Amino acid sequence: MASIPLKKNKNKTGAGKTGAGKTGAGKTGSFFSQWGMFFRQFVKHPGMIGSVIPSSATVVNRMLDQVDWRNTRLFVEYGPGVGTFTRSILDRLSADGTLLAIDLNLDFVAYLEAEIDDPRLRVVHGSAADVRRFIKEAGYYQADYVLSGIPFSTLPEGVGEAICAETRAALRPGGAFLIYQYSRYVLRLLNPLFGDVSDALEWRNIPPCRMIRAVRQEALAQAA
Ligand SMILES: C[S@@+](CC[C@H](N)C(=O)[O-])C[C@H]1O[C@@H](n2cnc3c(N)ncnc32)[C@H](O)[C@@H]1O
Repeated sequence: MASIPLKKNKNKTGAGKTGAGKTGAGKTGSFFSQWGMFFRQFVKHPGMIGSVIPSSATVVNRMLDQVDWRNTRLFVEYGPGVGTFTRSILDRLSADGTLLAIDLNLDFVAYLEAEIDDPRLRVVHGSAADVRRFIKEAGYYQADYVLSGIPFSTLPEGVGEAICAETRAALRPGGAFLIYQYSRYVLRLLNPLFGDVSDALEWRNIPPCRMIRAVRQEALAQAA
């Protein structure tokens, strides 16, 4: 699938505190329009979306609180959907950082493009399995963090394995792959690849959500 760095809709924003665009922009009935958009896409592509409603604010904050934002230059998000995490990532990301958001669903890509105007955000249409190509096209070598909302347990055969292997290769040594998920399925893909994998459960989400962190360890990274 092609990488489509899209042009921003400049009418949507004002300047944010970092000097970047206003990430909460386009909030025309945002809460309900986001949920409506999300639900419609779930009905069209249940296996690709994997959830009826977006993640809760509790999950968003717990996932993003683990990030060392001061030392983050490239943050990659898989499956941004309607931007539930995207806006909060931009709120935390430094003024010279980049957020590369990759989604397989073109309707979500177009929605994000229309709703969020921020020069630090690069939205691309394609599969997370091509993350290294997208990183290169964005002018970077490796990512500091990759965050994923992709439903690994419902992906076509072999896709989850490819995404996890590519993600490990795309991370800098010491970088982390952060995954929120309803199922523990992805652990069997991560454990052979990452030296340090941890898993916690957040009940304040519908349904309760697993929060997984897999770190590309320095020693293992050097051996690869
Ligand atoms: C459960 S939704 C997550 C949406 C949002 N981040 C949230 O937290 O509410 C899963 C997302 O993964 C996307 N997706 C599924 N397979 C993908 C793939 N191979 N590469 C990139 N995105 C993918 C879907 O289009 C959808 O946006």
